Parts: sequence; C-alpha cells; structure tokens
Amino acid sequence: MKKILITGALGQLGSEIAAELRSRFGVDKVVLTDRRDDVNTDLVEEGPFYRFDVRHGEELAAVVRRYRIDTIYHLAALLSATAENDPQTAWDLNLNGLMTVLEVAREERCAVFTPSSIGAFGPSTPRDWTPQDTIQRPTSMYGVTKVAGELLCDYYYHKYGVDTRGVRYPGLISNRTLPGGGTTDYAVDVYYQAVRRGRYSCFLKGDTYLDMMYMPDAVRAAVDLMEADPARLRHRNAFNVTAMSFCPEEQAAYIRRYIPDFEIDYHVDPVRQAIANSWPNNLEDYAARVEWDWEPRFDLDTMTRDMLRVLSRRLEDARYVWSDEG
Ligand code: NAD
Ligand code: SER
Repeated sequence: MKKILITGALGQLGSEIAAELRSRFGVDKVVLTDRRDDVNTDLVEEGPFYRFDVRHGEELAAVVRRYRIDTIYHLAALLSATAENDPQTAWDLNLNGLMTVLEVAREERCAVFTPSSIGAFGPSTPRDWTPQDTIQRPTSMYGVTKVAGELLCDYYYHKYGVDTRGVRYPGLISNRTLPGGGTTDYAVDVYYQAVRRGRYSCFLKGDTYLDMMYMPDAVRAAVDLMEADPARLRHRNAFNVTAMSFCPEEQAAYIRRYIPDFEIDYHVDPVRQAIANSWPNNLEDYAARVEWDWEPRFDLDTMTRDMLRVLSRRLEDARYVWSDEG
C-alpha cells in the first residue's frame, strides 16, 4: 500500500503531483509538507498537511514515522534565477534539504524521487540532442546543486540501497500554480499575458531555444518512474526527459494561431539570459524511453491550445475569449 509524503508540495510541480497522487491513491495516503501554507489552500485543507522547513530532519522523520511513509517526492528547492540571486541559500536548501530527506529515507526505508534539471548541464555540454551521459560542468549555482544532488542520490542508492530515482526536467509549463523563480518562467507567463493583455515583454532573447514540457507530462514522468520495474533501471538519477524545444519567437507564433494580434517584445534580463545560454537547446531522452517507456503526449501546438483554453475560461480579467472552433 502506497503511503506518500511530498516536500515543497504547494509549488508549481508539487501542487500538481499532489493532486494526481491523491486522486490515484486516496487523499489520506498522500501527506503534503511545505514551509508555507498560504497558497493552494484547497490542498492544505483537503488532507494531511504539515508546515515545516525540509532541513529540519526531526520534524520530517516524525511525520514519516507517524504515517508509515514508504515514498517521498522531494520537491522543495530554489529554482535557477532565485538561486543565482542568493547562491548560499540555494546551496543550503538544495543540498542540505536533499541530504536531510535521504537520511530520513535511509533510516525509515523510503524510496525517494528528486527532480534534477536541464540546469545540470553547462556551456561545455553538447547543446543539440544532449545525451544522457555527457559533460556536466554547469556555471549556475542551481546547476551546481543539481549535479551534486544527482551524485548524492546515486551515492545513497549504491552505499545504502535507498531506492532513489529522478529525472532532468526541462522548463515546466502549467496553469494551476505560477512558477517559482526559474529561467523558463517566461514560457508560462506569456500565456497569462496573452490572454489578459494580448501582448508580452519577454526577458529572454527571441531566438533562445530551451527544452520544455507541459505539466500533465511532467506529473506522469514522475509517477511512472516511481512505479517502474527497478530491474530495468540503469540510470536512476537522473533521466533526461523532454517533450519539445522552442524559442520565444516560435511560442509567440503558435499563440498567434489563436490570438492573431498577439504581440511580443524583448527586454532581456542578463542574469537569466546567461543561464539560458549555458543550457542545452534540446535533450535526447532515449534512456528514459527504453528503461521505463517514457513518452510525452503534448507538443507546442496542443499545449498552447490547452493553456489558452483553460486560462481564458478561468482568469477573471481575461480579454481573450476561447472559441471551441478556434
Ligand atoms: P517551486 O518554487 O514552485 O516550489 C518549491 C516549493 O518548495 C514551494 O512551495 C516552497 O514554498 C517550498 N520550499 C522552499 N523552501 C523550502 C524549505 N526550506 N522547506 C520546505 N519547503 C520549502 O518549484 P517547482 O517548480 O515546483 O520545483 C520543484 C522541483 O522541480 C525543484 O527541485 C526544481 O528544481 C525541479 N524542477 C522544476 C522545473 C520547473 O520548470 N518548474 C524544471 C526542472 C526542475
Ligand atoms: N525551469 C527551471 C528553472 O528555470 C529549470 O530547472 O529554474
């Protein structure tokens, strides 16, 4: 019987994984934790929720023991842009938070899912069709913590037998919870602004290619990997996964299929542009496809269509009206 705990459960990824796991396994089987409780209050009120800092191992261990948790989805972390503004906190949270979770998992015999990122690659990595096993010399603090995290998870698997698994997510695009300070946040914000104002000012250059994924695919990747037959897994931490690669100009062109007068301009943020320039244009995710049958379902067109449909119906100040014939 699955008993699951999620750290960082109210964030962009956590809120959607929480909803999926609660609908799949039952609300009382999925315990949510975060250091805040003032967002996604529906999730907080619906079932077990505990507010604490993930680096506080005693609090984490107490909840794991109380609910006999067997699987932890560890999602509490600082994203790339926030991390670059405060690298010391990023190191502390992203690595000491992970270490705390792995120690509790070792003692309480839990499996652990930890997301890595395209940020685990750097400027000396091959930029196109970036392989699973390749050079990883990132230049951002976020990337440093992600590479170290991948290695730490490998270490706990080999040394202690902790069932650690992870994916290298690309930029995640969703319409439930806003992203939390990443370099790829523009690719979410552009849909909100397109629906509200019909225009967007982008902080990356128009020809900056990055990998991206729509949230339903990202949630499925995490859950499928944790359900995969361990005998088939050669990589564990962490699998390249991707669904699409595009630049802001291309995303704008797809938005114009539905909002023809949509306009985009560019006010480049040098910090986030430098981070994006150091990341791959597009990943190769063959190992995930072979070892646990990974396959994305959304591309840029189907994601754009769904984002605009959902946001135009939900945002109270939406100017764009979705037409089912559109
Ligand atoms: P997010 O910023 O939206 O959510 C992180 C959550 O962690 C927040 O709810 C925050 O309150 C919580 N948190 C922060 N510090 C904490 C602490 N000290 N103790 C407890 N909780 C704390 O981030 P996300 O986008 O949901 O990312 C989740 C994971 O996925 C991270 O490891 C991130 O690196 C990875 N990832 C995300 C993306 C993306 O595009 N969103 C891409 C690649 C990898
Ligand atoms: N979307 C994430 C970020 O930009 C990638 O890990 O930080």
